[in-house]
Amino acid sequence: MLNIVIFGPPGAGKGTQSSRLVERYHLEYISTGDALRIEIATGSELGLEAKRLIDQGQLVPDQMVIDIVQKVIIAKQSNPASKGILFDGFPRTVKQATVLDQMLAKVNASMSCMVSLNVPEKDLISRILMRGKTSSRSDDNEVIIASRLDEYAKKTAPVAAYYKSQNKYKEINGLGTIDEITSRLIEVIEDCN
Ligand code: AP5
Ligand code: MG
Repeated sequence: MLNIVIFGPPGAGKGTQSSRLVERYHLEYISTGDALRIEIATGSELGLEAKRLIDQGQLVPDQMVIDIVQKVIIAKQSNPASKGILFDGFPRTVKQATVLDQMLAKVNASMSCMVSLNVPEKDLISRILMRGKTSSRSDDNEVIIASRLDEYAKKTAPVAAYYKSQNKYKEINGLGTIDEITSRLIEVIEDCN
């Protein structure tokens, strides 16, 4: 099984690269950001609570995303065609990373590696502002980007150390064309076990 976390700050290109990796390695895909936006669109109670936080650029509570991921792991790992799972936007706190290891252990699986996209802050901001011109994402504006980057630095960046301590952390330069970045990712993923 190839279980991968694609990691990096808002706008790093996680979603863009994920669709390519899913296709190449025949992986199941979990994006907690997408899952929360679906809850918001359906107007569920969970969606309303998530919207309040997402619109301020803050993370939602750990338990909210843990519950979402738990359901998906159980549903997807029983699919015989699946070669593994790609996690995008999760784990985003050290608590989430610890719980993810426990959830995978329960289904006799483990994380293969975390691949991190390095992109300078000015490029992250310009990418998100560019997308904000056409996207319907309520958090794609200058004010909220600042809090998303702040949350990332405080709560999410430490997750890299968690995987480094398990020798599962790999990082690549996330600047360049989308194809160049995919090639760099494939190169490091070939070394994941
Ligand atoms: P989430 O949806 O995960 O958003 P994010 O991490 O802030 O990142 P983005 O989706 O904006 O960026 P991305 O890295 O996917 O880049 P993309 O490929 O789109 O989370 C949203 C919110 O939900 C969070 O703020 C939080 O509130 C909540 N949440 C989600 N998960 C959570 C969790 N686990 N715990 C707690 N809260 C959680 O690319 C960005 C743009 O750049 C695109 O327009 C793209 O076309 C462009 N682009 C991509 N690659 C390139 C390139 N090589 N060159 C130029 N442009 C490029
Ligand atoms: Mg994304």
